[in-house]
Amino acid sequence: MHNSQCILEIDLSKIRANYKILSNICKNSEVASIVKANAYGLGADKIAKALEQENCKSFFVASINEAINLRNSLDSNANIFVLNGVFSNDVNEFEKYNLIPVLNHLGQVEVWTNFTKKLARKLPSALHIDTGLNRLGMPDIEIQSLINQPDLLESLSLKYVMSHLASSEESGNPYNLEQLKRFKHYLQYFPNVKASLSNSQGISLGEDYHFDLVRPGASLYGITGPRPRIVMHNVLNLTAPIIQLKTVGSNSHVGYNTSFTTKNDTIIATLPIGYADGYSRILSNCGEVFIDGHIAPVIGKISMDLVTIDVTNVPSQKIFLGQRVEIINDYCTIDKIASIIGGIGYEILTLLHGPRFKRIYKNDTELS
Ligand SMILES: Cc1ncc(COP(=O)(O)O)c(C=O)c1O
Repeated sequence: MHNSQCILEIDLSKIRANYKILSNICKNSEVASIVKANAYGLGADKIAKALEQENCKSFFVASINEAINLRNSLDSNANIFVLNGVFSNDVNEFEKYNLIPVLNHLGQVEVWTNFTKKLARKLPSALHIDTGLNRLGMPDIEIQSLINQPDLLESLSLKYVMSHLASSEESGNPYNLEQLKRFKHYLQYFPNVKASLSNSQGISLGEDYHFDLVRPGASLYGITGPRPRIVMHNVLNLTAPIIQLKTVGSNSHVGYNTSFTTKNDTIIATLPIGYADGYSRILSNCGEVFIDGHIAPVIGKISMDLVTIDVTNVPSQKIFLGQRVEIINDYCTIDKIASIIGGIGYEILTLLHGPRFKRIYKNDTELS
């Protein structure tokens, strides 16, 4: 009997190659890796270890629990930054696991300095300045207050001053330049501290945006958006087996709600993947999958566990139970799916973590 599982292959050598591409572009900056949300759903443990082999020394996660998990898999010297910052009930964890909080507002500065004073030790931190995203990060009034307290500033032992761009994927958006100017303006108050501004797309805005450290996430995982300025490798291959085949006549409805009606005799293949696995229902009647290079359109509504595809035009010798159908590959990338449904690759990728998938990490040098 054939394998009835969907298989998600994550090629670690492609992720490493993407890291090298970015390192070559950012020759004068350190390239950190954003591995929050379990490395965008792909497995922070495996990916961070692979990137550590490429000499990546700094990793960013969103929360303390992500950081603790990561520390347990990484070299103890790796810098692990926590983007959401520090809260009074988890200060001890920061010290225990040697984690670096990104301080986003004066309240977090106070929590951190109270803690380090109690320990009578200086512990490193980073400072997030809001240059216009108006999400996390210190607003102007708080920055002014902080720079007027040199002793407080000194006690923070700042490793980086950072900010985050709102529209880096839109190279022509003047807001990028506005944020860059504001960032440079603030940096004059922190003359001896290293700086970090850019995410993946910020890197392609040019060297002016690189500073001392860049913080790519998406591009490491092959996501570049619809108009890539830097070509990255696809790192994923997701396949599902055909678990049922049937031929229906013209005027037959396929799937829930009679949303698709056949025009001619049609061969329908059913695959065991659905929206519960992260294969978005929005792809109903518009997604595309591949069988050995031949396109097969998604027909009917995607259901929780299943999807139906039209394989009428695929050579008949390629159509059999157990045949593996490619859902994501070099032709049908996360970015392409995003463009079909008018979404963003980030969301498609982070949803695609079906526990029902068999995961295979290709080119895992840890195993060899
Ligand atoms: C503060 C910060 N820096 C860097 C990144 C990485 O962004 P990207 O995945 O676009 O490279 C993120 C991700 O959202 C972020 O929140």
